[in-house]
Amino acid sequence: MEEKKIITIAVPKGRLQEQIAEYLAVRGVTIKEESRKLDYYDEKNGYRFLFVKNSDVPVYVNYGVADLGFSGSDVVYEGDFEFLHLARLPFGGTKICVAGYEKDRPLFEQNGLERNFIKPIKIATKFTRFTNHYFEERGIPVQIIKLTGSVELAPILGLAHFIVDLVETGSTLRENNLAVIEEIGRTHVKLIANPSLYRQNYRKIDDFVSKLQG
Ligand code: PRP
Repeated sequence: MEEKKIITIAVPKGRLQEQIAEYLAVRGVTIKEESRKLDYYDEKNGYRFLFVKNSDVPVYVNYGVADLGFSGSDVVYEGDFEFLHLARLPFGGTKICVAGYEKDRPLFEQNGLERNFIKPIKIATKFTRFTNHYFEERGIPVQIIKLTGSVELAPILGLAHFIVDLVETGSTLRENNLAVIEEIGRTHVKLIANPSLYRQNYRKIDDFVSKLQG
């Protein structure tokens, strides 16, 4: 099959977008961001960048709308699609934590020890697959409540005892009088590829990966 002249790369909007753009800029690839425009075509290199919601990057790559995508490992794991993992970037990694009110810490700790005597703790999170897997492996019964943002509100409003969420600077937790109860994972930013599109365009994709690692 003839190789395409253009590859499409999904980039998450928000805080990672800027870091990715800076990282690529020093490697000779420019992503021009016009305030509301959702794509950018780099004609010289033959790259089309799509700016999409973070959690949608794996969807665009899985359905072949994008050949490649930059995505947090947390988001990739939640999607449960099959990808090639082409590169791991040296920035954007963060912690995944159980967080809640400090006063509720014993509830979390006892639940592991005396789980036969108490009801499951309720945990609100965007990362239901990760959270389910984490607690299932440890034999700790939990009730998971799926939210898609502003998860910190859940313990405040009594929807859940704890949250499982990303903690970067910790300021969202602090400003809401919440604390890290336990760090349960780490995320990193990776470049994923659609496996069949990679087979069709591997030369151009490998060239992009070398630029990225240069
Ligand atoms: C993430 C995360 C926390 C916050 C943590 O949310 O879900 O809310 O960042 O960062 P901090 O420790 O530096 O305060 P994000 O800003 O990505 O928005 P979202 O909740 O809408 O996904």
